[in-house]
Amino acid sequence: MNIGIEALSFYVPRYYLDLAALAAARGVDVDKYCIGLGQEKMAVPPPDEDVITMAANAGTQVLTHVDRNSIDTIMFATESGVDQSKAGAIFVHSLLDLPSTCRAFEIKQACCSSTAALDMAVALVHRHPDKKILIVAADVARYGFCTPGEPTQGAGAVAMVVSSSPRLVQLDNESGSYTEDVMDFWRPNYMDEAVVDGKLSIRTYLHALGESWQGYHRQSGRGLDEFERFCYHLPFTRMGEKAHAHLLAIGAATEGGAVSREPICRVSDSLHYNRQIGNSYTASLYISLSSMLEHADDLSGQRIGLFSYGSGCMASFFSGIVGNRYQEWLTGDLHRDMLGDRVELSYEAYEELYAQSGPITGDCQTPVHDTGQFRLAGITGHKRLYERVGASAAVPEPEPVA
Ligand code: HMG
Repeated sequence: MNIGIEALSFYVPRYYLDLAALAAARGVDVDKYCIGLGQEKMAVPPPDEDVITMAANAGTQVLTHVDRNSIDTIMFATESGVDQSKAGAIFVHSLLDLPSTCRAFEIKQACCSSTAALDMAVALVHRHPDKKILIVAADVARYGFCTPGEPTQGAGAVAMVVSSSPRLVQLDNESGSYTEDVMDFWRPNYMDEAVVDGKLSIRTYLHALGESWQGYHRQSGRGLDEFERFCYHLPFTRMGEKAHAHLLAIGAATEGGAVSREPICRVSDSLHYNRQIGNSYTASLYISLSSMLEHADDLSGQRIGLFSYGSGCMASFFSGIVGNRYQEWLTGDLHRDMLGDRVELSYEAYEELYAQSGPITGDCQTPVHDTGQFRLAGITGHKRLYERVGASAAVPEPEPVA
């Protein structure tokens, strides 16, 4: 049975900071960010935008051509969860008006949980081929102010429908995984910013890529030349280029000779969107996949390789075949317009939003910013209240966010 991705779309907040402005404020050569990290802009969420609103916006887009009543399960992958108990998926289920027969739960392992959700979705569809699974993955990548991680911040959400009509990508059965207990990046419950050993995280990412690829290669017998394109988890786009060079070196060693074809062309189409968004953790790999499908020349029937990395760490290398008429189902214009219509923040406005988007405690009404179709209206009695833009959630006793 063919199973895979039927529909895919992403959403990003309406505000961004140009990294040239951050470089000027930090006294850093802008080339370090633009060339060294390969980033131009980073998405900045306002306080009334969180992982729920971003995921609901992405979900609305992806369900445009899919019957909501066919959705059997919604899985929410995130490492920026808003509650320790209640799944973010239930808020999104409600905002998207999904049927009450549709299950909803949240899943976590750093940036890799969206891929774990994809694996689980494939298994569910295998059991019930008439069902469709909605995966939403959303995150706010937030590091300490003035830290080396700061230029790799970002935010965004993807939504994917997985079914037995894989119009975009039909997934192969083989995948190679790697797990190791390592403290390269983590966020304790009492902290709002990630703690990271940047250099260790890069080394671990590359090591996990090598191990995952070897596992995949042993299972499938496929060599690197059998892939037309590769997509990587992109904390910053240079990481994708480094990863690809590393994979080609490993491939050349294990496959007994040089792997043909120029390396960068096989990854460059996947970098466009992430360069404008920054890290979006669980969403990052699938925004990279969107970028590749929406920028590469015809990939119909071609095999692509995907690498998912989640710090801590768990990683997977897997693959799929691009659908024969996939271009008819892409929403590249929507994505390009969304990125092009964003509002540029001054450095001072970024600093202000950074300070406001810490944890909200107590009752409050969030100030109204430019958002998509949904916003966090406020919190009352420790309950988060979401509203459709233009409709009031009637939050009692407003207290502005500090
Ligand atoms: P840093 O130490 O400030 O940067 O932090 P650097 O000194 O290593 O420089 C970065 C690159 O810019 C280097 O290139 C420099 O040479 C170059 P490289 O040698 O690596 O090829 N450079 C310049 N290039 C041109 N012109 C110049 C110039 N100056 C320097 N003038 C670091 C960099 C990535 C460590 C930091 O931003 C960080 O800690 N980021 C967060 C962690 C991260 O993104 N890790 C990536 C792997 S882990 C991962 O992907 C998982 C994650 O998504 C979380 C999850 O799973 O949930 C993060």
